[in-house]
Amino acid sequence: AVVPASAAAPSQTTVVAHRGASAHAPENTVAAFELAREQRADMFELDIQETSDHELVLVHDTTLARTTDVEKVFPGRAPWKVGDLTLAEIRKLDAGSWFSWKYRDEPVPTLGETLRAMSGSGLGLLLEIKAPRLYPGIEARVADELRRNPSWLTPGRLVVQSFDWDSMRTFHQVMPQVPIGLLGTPTAAQLPDLAEFASQINPPHGDLTAEYVRRVHGHRMDVLAWTVDDPDTMRRLISYRVDGVITNRPDVARGVIRPA
Ligand code: G3P
Ligand code: CA
Repeated sequence: AVVPASAAAPSQTTVVAHRGASAHAPENTVAAFELAREQRADMFELDIQETSDHELVLVHDTTLARTTDVEKVFPGRAPWKVGDLTLAEIRKLDAGSWFSWKYRDEPVPTLGETLRAMSGSGLGLLLEIKAPRLYPGIEARVADELRRNPSWLTPGRLVVQSFDWDSMRTFHQVMPQVPIGLLGTPTAAQLPDLAEFASQINPPHGDLTAEYVRRVHGHRMDVLAWTVDDPDTMRRLISYRVDGVITNRPDVARGVIRPA
């Protein structure tokens, strides 16, 4: 059975901070999630991958080169894949300075640290499992970490999503009480099968039409659009009746969408 992703009225549009409030703070850091709360997002989004010793860390790219100083700290370790370094090594990295000197020494957080740091924030969480085929068994390890932090399992607070729909079928089997989001734009013919285990379809905003949103709603799934930073585009998507916008700019979204 599929769990409803949100109990919000149809006129409400959820504001999801993409990698945190990532226009103003370094993506996938606790600083960016705290800023998302200050900017009155409803939820924050993050990307999970795994270290070589199977610890869950927040990084978007499959290498650490863009968002940390790894090339300087470990010059001999190219191409600096997340899965090639231990957690202890990744903890030596600065994940803030690439963005701004103001965030110097901001660490790459673990999933557990993030769940604990943000548990009292009142925000919901859109948790993306990134590139799960690189990390066999990651679904069960994410589920174990969530069970250690049960406040996140309150109905309506958490959605787990991925571009890898097979991984999401697996996650649904491991943790059937958690709503599932599918990244991408399934065809109309694919929707009935996907609705057996998913609660959300989350496409790039350029793929969306009012007709597509209506079709997904017809299968009792929500639609969240990414990544939307422009107020006019937000207004157009709201006119299509999307259920949420995933944005780097929760401050901009709050100028368009009143808090629930
Ligand atoms: O949540 C939607 C969005 O995060 C998917 O794309 O590449 O930013 O993870 P990406
Ligand atoms: Ca993501």
